[in-house]
Amino acid sequence: MILTLANQKGGVSKTTTAAALGQGLQLKGYKVLFIDLDPQGNLSYHLGADTLESPTIADVLEGKKTPEGAKQKAADTWEIIPSDHETSLHQHSTPPQLLRERIEPIKNKYDFIIIDTPPTLSALTINAFVAADRVIIPTTASTYATQGIIQLYQTIEQAQKLNPGLKLDGILLTRYTDRSIINRQIKKAIEALADKIGTKVYKTTIRQAIAVEEAQATKTALFEYAPKATAAKDYKDFIKEIERGIKK
Ligand SMILES: Nc1ncnc2c1ncn2[C@@H]1O[C@H](COP(=O)(O)OP(=O)(O)OP(=O)(O)O)[C@@H](O)[C@H]1O
Ligand SMILES: [Mg+2]
Repeated sequence: MILTLANQKGGVSKTTTAAALGQGLQLKGYKVLFIDLDPQGNLSYHLGADTLESPTIADVLEGKKTPEGAKQKAADTWEIIPSDHETSLHQHSTPPQLLRERIEPIKNKYDFIIIDTPPTLSALTINAFVAADRVIIPTTASTYATQGIIQLYQTIEQAQKLNPGLKLDGILLTRYTDRSIINRQIKKAIEALADKIGTKVYKTTIRQAIAVEEAQATKTALFEYAPKATAAKDYKDFIKEIERGIKK
């Protein structure tokens, strides 16, 4: 199962969710591979991957390395094909099905491949859609969130022409608090939008927690750094929801 985290809006917890989801699934015993497609390399950093001397996803796209040859075991624990600024060379003219073709040989070795994408709707994100089985859209409950989701949905529809099996799994509300009236109102609006585009808002929402940033800064998994933090608990619930959705 290949899961792509995407939203062209910046700072909506794509990377945080990619890390927590993949790490949580691996801690449950699944075999997980992370692919960082973001030239910012935030996921690579958080998982403790080396990008200075090691190959990156750019080398895989260029055919210089196989995915097997480019993956590394970050912090001796997390299997990842990392990314750095060189990946930005592939933002424009990369054919949409290139990533899909490149990772085909290793696809069946993993229960889950988790792809993190940049805050743009470039060729990189389209490659991540064409390669995926499901898309998860993390979003904050902010005023402009809904506008971006429509555009994102249209891009997913484009990718479905090349990858008919692709499904928009759902929309995940991050940094969310039920105590905020505006958050609740925007959640309702996003639910209505989700209904219109044939998807759902996940029952689980992710609360804000200082531990999230601290875990990233110290390159530690959130579940290890602060297993009792609100966001850690929420991500655990989210993983259960994803597992249930897959078994259906
Ligand atoms: N639940 C949370 N509680 C507190 N801080 C959070 C939470 N989720 C994310 N953050 C923080 O918000 C910032 C943005 O999160 P993140 O990097 O995951 O977003 P992103 O969508 O991947 O951003 P970009 O678009 O730049 O790739 C980070 O500093 C992260 O630590
Ligand atoms: Mg990110």
